[in-house]
Amino acid sequence: MCGIFGYLGKRDNALELVIKGLQKLEYRGYDSWGVTTDLNGELFCKKKVGKISEANLDDFTDKKATIAMGHTRWATHGGVTDANAHPHFDPDRQISVVHNGIIENFQEIKDELGAENFVSETDTEVIAHLIAKYRKNHPFKEAVLKAVQRFEGRFAIVVLNVGENYLIAARRGSPLIVGIGEDEYFLASDIPAFLEYTQNVNYLDDNEMVIVDGGVEFLNLETGEPIKKRLVNIDWKAESAEKGEFDHFMLKEIMEQKDTILRAINQEEDDIMHIAQQIKNSRGCFLSGCGTAGKVCMAGEYFFSMIANRHVNFAPSSEFPIYHHFLRPESLLIVISQSGETADVLEAMEVAKSKGAKVLSLVNVEGSTIARQSDFSIHIKAGPEKAVASTKAATSQMALMLLIATAMRGELQEGRRVLADVGSKINDMLNPRFLTYIKTVAEQLKDHENAYIIGKAENYPMALEAAIKIQEVSYIHAEGFAAGELKHGPIALIAKGTPCISLVANDEVRQDVINNTMELKARGAHIIGISPEKHDVFDEWIKVPDVGVASPLVNIVPIQLLAYYLAVQRGLDPDMPRNLAKSVTVK
Ligand code: AGP
Repeated sequence: MCGIFGYLGKRDNALELVIKGLQKLEYRGYDSWGVTTDLNGELFCKKKVGKISEANLDDFTDKKATIAMGHTRWATHGGVTDANAHPHFDPDRQISVVHNGIIENFQEIKDELGAENFVSETDTEVIAHLIAKYRKNHPFKEAVLKAVQRFEGRFAIVVLNVGENYLIAARRGSPLIVGIGEDEYFLASDIPAFLEYTQNVNYLDDNEMVIVDGGVEFLNLETGEPIKKRLVNIDWKAESAEKGEFDHFMLKEIMEQKDTILRAINQEEDDIMHIAQQIKNSRGCFLSGCGTAGKVCMAGEYFFSMIANRHVNFAPSSEFPIYHHFLRPESLLIVISQSGETADVLEAMEVAKSKGAKVLSLVNVEGSTIARQSDFSIHIKAGPEKAVASTKAATSQMALMLLIATAMRGELQEGRRVLADVGSKINDMLNPRFLTYIKTVAEQLKDHENAYIIGKAENYPMALEAAIKIQEVSYIHAEGFAAGELKHGPIALIAKGTPCISLVANDEVRQDVINNTMELKARGAHIIGISPEKHDVFDEWIKVPDVGVASPLVNIVPIQLLAYYLAVQRGLDPDMPRNLAKSVTVK
């Protein structure tokens, strides 16, 4: 989940440029930061605990360099200290490295090199020490190759060697992208870091290395053999990765749902029909994802059941490997991921492929690892999603699932019409009056430490997703329940004034959910009803459009806004909640 950024090229303010690039990646990891360069043959390094947004650029204006790299850290091994911040280097300060991932055999290497020579608690430091060891008898490139061939685990690294005016990067399991500019090159864990300079990129694949020295040379990590990579032009504009007039990315991305649904369903008909046919042909179809993407998969289960009459099994990606007994070559795994880099999803894919099963993916980052390792991948086209809390990606993913389900029933055009209608109704719903009302509802909840959400059928996954949204940005203990499950235990939690959100759609289970809501009300709960129609049981009624089976797409939008305003009203930063990162690239 860390942010990595390296620069080599025509500009002599490389340190400032790296810091600004890291600031665009701050959502990827932010308990400490650091930058490094070769300043006239001496390794320069500044690293400290804190947010990269607090870095003072004046500290770097006098340090002219055309090569530099930096890192924002989300701690895995070792506490949050200056010493554990990246970059890390060898005792002679010749090799400097930044790293995202986990070197699983770091302790064995550390012991071999002499643990007493280490100054940090991190796994990363062994990378610099080991490369420095090999560098004594090998050129820089060979020293890096020899070192990375010993590592077990996932990594993306950028390495600098004092006196050598080039950068080397390598990856296995964590993202690394090469930006190709005009006489300048960028290495980053995510595209927004350099999007203002170039939209031409090469994606490093697993077990590949790149040498950036006024050109780019790609090598296979295992054999050292050169490899050819295709240049990709990213159709994101730099401003789309900025906040614009919004206070936070989260609100910007919620509001972008005015048109992201329409973009999501704007897919090649052949692609949608291909996936629909693959599901039909499969014997054992699984849906898998993590967190919010996992709840989207659960909603997909209901869509495929209710619309296409097809049983599809959801499993959280972290649990999916236990299903290996059921997997066979005729099986199909569909994974959903915004970032396209989630480690648990990648591991689920490896298990499925090990059994000969096909893997399809719905992702929001073109060229991401999940996209490139799938047999077939669809881009949800939601545009960069930078807030840790996933919002527009989730509704776009659900729209695509619903579209595929209607395609399975031979009604693709009807599905497009329904979803286009949903898109325009979300557009109408996201008006200033609606936002103001949600803000007042947040005022009622902001001092509570618990909140419960109930839903049934296709809205049960939305009750679970609502809980994630509220938890992750407001830190309120929110829990989602299947409405029918309340009386089997959770209703004991309800006391006078307990905030309860009830997702009530105009579907066949509407009365059941109203009845469950009445059970809550009878025990003193403060009821917030999200529904197309008012009901006496609601203390607050958040009106949403009636969109039939697509109700999860509209019901989750007020929850996203509620979570956002709760965070703001509780004095928190909704874009970068504590302990979380935007892309969970470690298991
Ligand atoms: C969602 O708001 C969370 N940030 C988190 O649960 C996220 O959905 C999960 O980590 C999966 O990420 P992905 O979609 O990038 O795979």
